[in-house]
Amino acid sequence: MKDAFGLPQSLLVLGGTSEIALATARRLIARRTRTVWLAGRPSPGLDEAAEQLRGLGAVVRTVAFDALDPAAHEDALGKVFAEGDVDMVLLAFGTLGDQAHDERDPEAAVRVAQTNYTGAVSAGLVCASALQAQGHGSLVVLSSVAGERARRANFIYGSSKAGLDAFAQGLGDALYGTGVHVMVVRPGFVRTRMTAGLPQAPLATTPEAVAAAVELGLRRRAETVWVPGALRVVMSALRHLPRGLFRRLPV
Ligand SMILES: NC(=O)c1ccc[n+]([C@@H]2O[C@H](COP(=O)([O-])OP(=O)(O)OC[C@H]3O[C@@H](n4cnc5c(N)ncnc54)[C@H](OP(=O)(O)O)[C@@H]3O)[C@@H](O)[C@H]2O)c1
Repeated sequence: MKDAFGLPQSLLVLGGTSEIALATARRLIARRTRTVWLAGRPSPGLDEAAEQLRGLGAVVRTVAFDALDPAAHEDALGKVFAEGDVDMVLLAFGTLGDQAHDERDPEAAVRVAQTNYTGAVSAGLVCASALQAQGHGSLVVLSSVAGERARRANFIYGSSKAGLDAFAQGLGDALYGTGVHVMVVRPGFVRTRMTAGLPQAPLATTPEAVAAAVELGLRRRAETVWVPGALRVVMSALRHLPRGLFRRLPV
C-alpha cells in the first residue's frame, strides 16, 4: 500500500531499462519502495538494471514485456499483479525513432507509433484494469512536451506522444473516483541515451530531476507534471502561436 504521502511500496516499471524510470526507481527505493518489477525486452541491460536496484535493498524481479506485442500484455502483466498488489505502474517505454529516416520508411515510422501509442494503449488498459480490481494505485505515464505541438523536426514521435497523452488523460478521467490515480508526466529534453548525440534543447534536464518531479507529483496526487515546471508556460505560449510563425521557429 502507498503511505500517507502517496509513495509506493511496490513498483512496476514498463520499460525496465529506461534511464528516467531507473532514476525514479532509485529515488522511490530510497523512500519506501521495497518491491520492483522491471518489465522489458529481455537483455543483459535489463538484468543489470535489476541487479543495481537489488544493491539498493529492493526485491527486484524482471518480466518479459514487448510493447510491440500487445497480444501478450494481458499474460505478461497479469502475472505481476497475480503475485501481489502493485502500488505504482510507471509506463516508461518509448522510442524516438529517426525522423529523417522514418519519413522515407513508413514501416519504421509505424513501429514508433506502435511502440509509443498503441503499445501504451494496450499495456495501459491492462494495468488500469488490474489497478482498479485491487482498488488503489497510480499509473504514471511518461508523455512528452513533443506531444503538445507537433514539430517539423520530430512529428512522427511527437504525434505518437500526442496520442499517448490524450489516451492517458482520458483514462485518468475514466478512473477518477475509483481509487486509481493517473499522472501524466511531460518532460522536455532529458539527457539520456535516447537523446545522446542530439543538440541540447533549452531547459534540458536530467533523469534525476524527472524522478524528483514524479515523487512530488505522487505526494500531491497531481494529474499533470511538467519537467522542468517552466515548460508549462513555454508550451502554453508555443501551442497558441499561429501555424505560419511556429513553422519558422528553429525548434
Ligand atoms: N529523454 C528524453 O528527452 C525524454 C523526454 C520526454 C519524454 N521521454 C520519454 O520517457 C520515456 C523514457 O525515456 P528515456 O529517456 O528513459 O529513454 P531510454 O533510456 O532510451 O528508455 C527507453 C525504454 O523504452 C524501452 N523500449 C523501447 N521499445 C520497446 C518495446 N518495443 N518494448 C518494450 N520496451 C521498449 C527500452 O527498452 P530496451 O532496453 O529493450 O531498448 C527502454 O527501457 C520514453 O517514453 C520517452 O519517450 C524522454
